[in-house]
Amino acid sequence: MPPAPRIDITPAQEALAPVEPCTLVIFGGSGDLARRRLIPALYNLMLDGLLPTNFAVLGLGRKPMTDEDFRTTLREGVLTHSRQPLKEDRWSVFAERLFYLAGGNEDRQTYTALKARLENIERQFGLPGHRIFYLSIPPSSFTAVCEGLEYSELAVHGDRPYARIIVEKPVGRDLSSAQQINAVTGRVFDESQIFRIDHYLGKETVQNLMVVRFANSIFEPIWNHKYIDHVQITVSEEEGVGTRATYYEEAGALRDMVQNHMLQLLCLVAMEPPYSLDPDVVRNAKMEVLRCLRPITGKDVEAVTVRAQYAGGTVAGKPVPGYRREPGVKPDSTTETYVALKCFVENWRWSGVPFYLRTGKALPHRGSEVAVQFKDIPQILFNANTQHPQPANVLALRIQPEEGLSLRIVSRVPGTREQTHPVEMAFKYAEVFGRPSPEAYERLLLDVMAGDATLFMRRDQVETAWQFVMPILDRWEQMGGRDVPEYQCGTWGPVEADRLIEPDGRYWRTL
Ligand code: BG6
Repeated sequence: MPPAPRIDITPAQEALAPVEPCTLVIFGGSGDLARRRLIPALYNLMLDGLLPTNFAVLGLGRKPMTDEDFRTTLREGVLTHSRQPLKEDRWSVFAERLFYLAGGNEDRQTYTALKARLENIERQFGLPGHRIFYLSIPPSSFTAVCEGLEYSELAVHGDRPYARIIVEKPVGRDLSSAQQINAVTGRVFDESQIFRIDHYLGKETVQNLMVVRFANSIFEPIWNHKYIDHVQITVSEEEGVGTRATYYEEAGALRDMVQNHMLQLLCLVAMEPPYSLDPDVVRNAKMEVLRCLRPITGKDVEAVTVRAQYAGGTVAGKPVPGYRREPGVKPDSTTETYVALKCFVENWRWSGVPFYLRTGKALPHRGSEVAVQFKDIPQILFNANTQHPQPANVLALRIQPEEGLSLRIVSRVPGTREQTHPVEMAFKYAEVFGRPSPEAYERLLLDVMAGDATLFMRRDQVETAWQFVMPILDRWEQMGGRDVPEYQCGTWGPVEADRLIEPDGRYWRTL
């Protein structure tokens, strides 16, 4: 087959709705997310000519820092984490618009100072007063920030100028805290001003799930229980908990990855075709999937979920301590760093089709995919030998790294003997489109500036996803530390995860 033609897309071609000049206020400005993801995302948007030429960023944090200190930290973040290399001349223009303000989220004076500083910056650059507030802070502080913004009259309603708020996941640590956060954000802002971020939805390949399903005619007729045997969704991470133990000890893999990223992926695979791409039409279609999830309760929790914690070992040749030995982790912690579960979407389309989800830290390597495995062919013709059944067709959507898509089919091996072999028809984004995909945060920040909420979670989605995971969390809590198996770092998880899938006659895919 000749190589697929490269298609070069210039940034200008992909500009979305025009975005107006604005100021981004980052609560948690001195934190990891700002340094590793948000600022590199803005910097790349600027390089690609997608950021409004007039903009400013004001980071807010407890740590005392000057604007210069802030810029130095962010420069290091861009050097290490940016998709495109740091260009000194562009960086210095960009950095002039980065500012920092020290203050506690719970402190009313912070908001008075914030308002004054914002007005000052806006005057200096002739900015029109559009403001985006990014809550990159623990969920326990969300309420205080919303009330502070309300108190200082920064939470204005209306479009000119607008105020928008971005709420970073996880929204709460259980259903009731999520409801409280939603209640207070909903009291201070209209739903149209609230952008609950799940950065997986901004990933190129995740957006492609809908395109593959609904821009091709061949998949939809077979996208149901008659042809699909099961679906596997895997999000594997090579890194351990790193420096995030304080947060992670309170979260664990189910709250951190399944309640949001993985259920959102499941929704995209399982949703009915929306009748338009209007944000609420798409979100309604996803919402229906969440409503159809069969609850996992009581003893079923033990039967269809597996949690585990990593023990010491090596990952990619580097030694990794066991989770309980990581800095900041309790020596008797029962927090899970791995989850596998089997669930069902109870509607006509998916009747009887299991969805297997697994995610973990300190696994052999980073890799995320959605794999749709089709049913076996009848045991005749090329599949007559029951000792060597033909492998089933699998459509694998590779989310990261090496973003792309592959379809496993069985082919004849050239030669005089009747021999078959599975082969993969594949496409890789980087090969076909000639440049790496933008990072999820680039797309999502741009969408907030444009006021497009399609790729953000609506209040009812967040709460319904919590409703699904709550009985699992409750049961695990009742069971205490019992049944938290360990898996060695650098392996694909505990043997219990195999016992979840293998009795069904199915196997985890090797990524
Ligand atoms: C975050 C989780 O939402 O997603 C982290 O809090 C996780 O624990 C991260 O490491 C994974 O994101 P990505 O984009 O690297 O797959």
